[in-house]
Amino acid sequence: MVPFSLQVAVYRLVMLVLKLASKVLRFPQPELFAGPGASLQLCEAIARDRPGKVLIVTDAMLVKIGLLSDIESKLKELGVEYALFDGVLPDPTIALIEDGLKVLQREGCSAILAIGGGSSIDAAKVIAARARNNKSVAKMAGLFRVWRGMLPLYAIPTTAGTGSEVTIAAVVSDPSQQKKFAIMDPKLVPAKAALDGNLMRGLPAPITAATGMDALTHAVEAYISRNATPGTDADAVEATRLIMQNLPKVMADGGDLAARQKMAVASYQAGVAFTRAGVGYVHAISHNFGARYHTPHGLANAIVLPYILEYSKPSCTDRLAELARASGIGQPGQSASQLADAFIARIREMNAQYGVPTRLDALKADDIPAIAAAALHEAHWTYAVPRYMDRTSCEGLIRRLLPQG
Ligand SMILES: NC(=O)c1ccc[n+]([C@@H]2O[C@H](COP(=O)([O-])OP(=O)(O)OC[C@H]3O[C@@H](n4cnc5c(N)ncnc54)[C@H](O)[C@@H]3O)[C@@H](O)[C@H]2O)c1
Ligand SMILES: [Fe+2]
Repeated sequence: MVPFSLQVAVYRLVMLVLKLASKVLRFPQPELFAGPGASLQLCEAIARDRPGKVLIVTDAMLVKIGLLSDIESKLKELGVEYALFDGVLPDPTIALIEDGLKVLQREGCSAILAIGGGSSIDAAKVIAARARNNKSVAKMAGLFRVWRGMLPLYAIPTTAGTGSEVTIAAVVSDPSQQKKFAIMDPKLVPAKAALDGNLMRGLPAPITAATGMDALTHAVEAYISRNATPGTDADAVEATRLIMQNLPKVMADGGDLAARQKMAVASYQAGVAFTRAGVGYVHAISHNFGARYHTPHGLANAIVLPYILEYSKPSCTDRLAELARASGIGQPGQSASQLADAFIARIREMNAQYGVPTRLDALKADDIPAIAAAALHEAHWTYAVPRYMDRTSCEGLIRRLLPQG
C-alpha cells in the first residue's frame, strides 16, 4: 500500500501539470449581453449571425410558465427560423441528449439556442458537440475530447447557478452506472450568451437558494484551489461578495430585479473562475449524491459546503478570511482564523434560513464507501484541493451527513 503522503505528492504533481497547461490554454468567453432584456438583444445578434435554422433546447416547465414567449416572439419578428426541443430534465442523461440530437437532425438545424438552467445549457452543449463529432457521448468524457468543436451555441441561463454559459464543462448523467461525468473542453464555451435577470424573477425560492449556493461553491472552491491565479482570484472574490450580498435579497424578494441581475453576473464570474482554477471536494461528493439519489446539484453542494470548508480550513485559513472580509462578514480586529470561522458560520446560517438541511435524507450508510471512493477519485485527478483527504476521513465526513435516527 502506497503511503498517503506519497499519493498526495503524486496528485499535487498532476495538478501542477494541469496548472502549467492552463497557462498556455486559451479559455474563450462568449460575447456577452447583460442586463434586463439582454435575452432579446441576443436574439438580434442571432439574426445578424444568420446561423440557419436554430434548435431551442430547453425544459418543458419553462415553456409552460411562459418564460420563452418574448424570446420566441422576437425570433419570429426577426425572421429567425427555429424548432423546439423541450425534453430536458434536471441532470440530463445520455439518452436525453440522443433524443435532442434526433430532433436537431430531423429539423435540419445548424445552431442551438439553450434557454434554461445548467441542465438545458449542458444538454445543448453536448447535442451541439455530438452533431459535429462522430463519437458517443461517453467517449467525449474527460478533458479535450471534443476535437471537432460544436455547432454555434447561444445560451440564456434562467438560473443564477452553474455558470455553464461561460464554462468549458458539460455534466452528463449515466443512470446505468449511477454516475455523473463531465466533458471538459474549451470548445464547449458558447459563442454568445445573455445574462437577463428578468427571466429569473419567477425562480421559486428553493431553486433560487440551491442554484445560488452552487454559484457560491464555484467561487469559494476556485478561490481556495491551489490552481487559482490572480485573475481567477479577482473573479472569485467579486462573485462571493455579490452572492453574499444579493442572495439574501432575492430570497427575501424574488422580484428584486437589481439583485437578480447581480446574481446572474456573480454566477457568470464564478464560472469564469472555476473553469480555470477548478472546483473541489464539495463538487466531487455532490456529483455522487446527484447520480445516486437525484439530489439537485445546488442543494447537494449547499449541504456539503460547510463540512468541507471546516475540513479544509487549516490549509486555507487566510483565503477564507479574505472572502469574509470581502463579504463584510466578521468584526474588525478579528484574527484570520476567527474570520474564516465566521465565513463558514454565515454559510450554515444562510442554509438554515433557506431550508437547506444539515444532513441528506436519501443517504444510505451502505453506499458511503462507494461514494467516498468515487468522490476521491474525481477530486484527486481533477481538482487542486487545498487539503487532501484519505478514504477514512472522507467516509467519516460523509457519515456525518446521514439522516438522524
Ligand atoms: N456546465 C457546468 O459548468 C456546470 C456547473 C455546475 C453544475 N452543472 C450541472 O447543471 C445542472 C443543474 O443546473 P441548475 O442548477 O441550473 O438547474 P436545472 O437546469 O436542472 O433546473 C432546475 C429546475 O429549475 C427550473 N427552472 C430553471 N429556471 C427557471 C426559472 N427562471 N423559473 C422557474 N423555474 C426555473 C427548471 O425547470 C428545473 O425544474 C446539473 O446537472 C449540474 O451537474 C453544470
Ligand atoms: Fe456546480
